[in-house]
Order: sequence, then C-alpha cells, then structure tokens
Amino acid sequence: MEIQLWREILSPYELAVKELVEKFNHLIREHRERGLYSPIEQVTGRVKSVTSILEKMKRKEIPFEELEDQVEDIAGVRIICQFVEDIQRVADLIAHRSDMEIKCEKDYITHMKESGYRSYHLVIYYQVETINGPKKLQAEIQIRTMAMNFWATIEHSLQYKYKTNIPPHVKERLSKAADAIIALDHEMSSVRSEIMNAQNSSLIQRNLVMDILSNIENLYQKSNKREVEKIQTEFYRIYASNDLQQLKRFHQQLDIIAEGYRAQAVTSEMEE
Ligand code: GTP
Ligand code: MG
Repeated sequence: MEIQLWREILSPYELAVKELVEKFNHLIREHRERGLYSPIEQVTGRVKSVTSILEKMKRKEIPFEELEDQVEDIAGVRIICQFVEDIQRVADLIAHRSDMEIKCEKDYITHMKESGYRSYHLVIYYQVETINGPKKLQAEIQIRTMAMNFWATIEHSLQYKYKTNIPPHVKERLSKAADAIIALDHEMSSVRSEIMNAQNSSLIQRNLVMDILSNIENLYQKSNKREVEKIQTEFYRIYASNDLQQLKRFHQQLDIIAEGYRAQAVTSEMEE
C-alpha cells in the first residue's frame, strides 16, 4: 500500500476552507456596507482531523482509494443565521453562485434527526488552484440558526463525553431541549416579522403624511382658509393618535375633498 501523505492530501482542503470562509465573510461585509440585513450572521470552517477521517472510514468501511469521494466533509464550513427564514436565503445564494456547485442537500430542519439535530446541509463541489493545477473537491456546508447551533454544540460535546452511548435520561433531556429550540426559533421568527411589519408600516405612514401635507397645502391655496385650518387641526390630532387606519381614512377623505375642489375649478373655468 502506498504511504498516505496526509499533509499533501489535506492541503487543498485547507485552502478551500480558508477561501470559503473568506467569501462568506465578504458577503456579510457587502450586506452591512450597503445597510442591508445579512442573512449570514457568522461563518466558521475546519478541516477534518486525521483521527476523525480514519474513524469515519472505519465506521463506514470506506477504502483509501475512495476517501476523497466518500468522505464529503473533509472540508467543513458552518454558517450561522439569526432566523430560520435566513437559512433558505443562504442556500439560494449558494445555489446561484458560479464558484460553488451543489452536489446534494440534506434538510434536517423539515426532517429532524432522531437525536433532535436540526440543520440544513449542502455538499458542494469547489475548485481550488494547487501546485499541480486546478483541483475540484467536495465541501460540506452546514447552515443553522444560533439556537440550533447551541443545541448541536452541547449535544456534540455530550456525544464526545459518552463516546456515542448517551444514557437514556440524558437523551430524553436533549430531545426536550430540541423541542424548546424549535419553539425558540419560532418565537424569534415572529419577532422578526413584527420588526419587518413595523418597518413597513412606518414607511406607509411616512408616505401618507407627505401626501396629506401636500393636499392640505393645495387646498389652502384654493379654498376657505378657516376650513383648511380645521382640516389641519384634525390631521394633527390623528397624527398624534398614532393610528395608521385612521390616518388612511383621513387621507382618503382629504382626497375626496381635494377632488371636489378640482372638479369645481374645472367647472368654473368652463363657465368663465
Ligand atoms: P457523519 O458520518 O457523522 O459525518 O454523518 P454522515 O456523513 O452520514 O452525514 P450526516 O448528514 O448524518 O451528518 C453530517 C454532519 O452533521 C456530522 O458530521 C455532524 O457535524 C452533523 N450532525 C449530524 N447528526 C448530528 C447529531 O445528531 N448531533 C450533532 N451534534 N451533529 C450532527
Ligand atoms: Mg461529519
């Protein structure tokens, strides 16, 4: 058997992990520089240790010739998101890139593992340039929320401690904790949609106010001043009440009044 030069085998994977992490970090920076929300919160990467590779080959009976084909996670990247909704956005982002080709996807979010593990996995093909020319290799990308990561990190350290034989009472606790993580992610998502809605309604309100003010100004030039003053007072009252629905109704009424004046103006022009 040929002697395995691990450092040589792993070297291109080291490069791939460094490049991938840098590229995802760059995406975070690009979003932030433009004042956009970044669906990626944090990125980490690692090359699988030789002992872990050997352990996996033994467990899955993988021969050395098939090492690079069968062990898909020699290069591993982990992407942490704030919200569950961000995960699909990140997966789509990766799917549209020309430098990463998706080999397969595993959705452990819709289909939670028996342990309680949740994450979205992608195996990609990624090309690096080496001393021997280009090399296409595989990398595993795990996408998960901060809450999912919290669970997986703890569970992984317990697996390590108990050497895969986690006692039943601990397993049960982990399973309960996994349910709590689902609930937590769900709560956080509803906070997120509330924030989005709030942002949206403040934009609607701003446009309504601008419209109303310009209507009042127009009316002021065309109609009874006392009347317009009353309208303005009414506007400030509604504005102070912070009631978007009322503001919408007021906007409509004002539109009708303004339309009335426009019609009058047209009629009087014709009469002149
Ligand atoms: P491994 O041999 O463990 O790599 O599994 P696999 O090649 O059959 O793929 P799978 O999709 O099951 O797991 C890939 C990776 O996801 C693992 O290497 C872990 O990093 C992670 N993972 C999968 N299941 C669990 C789990 O139950 N707990 C934790 N903490 N991580 C998991
Ligand atoms: Mg693995």
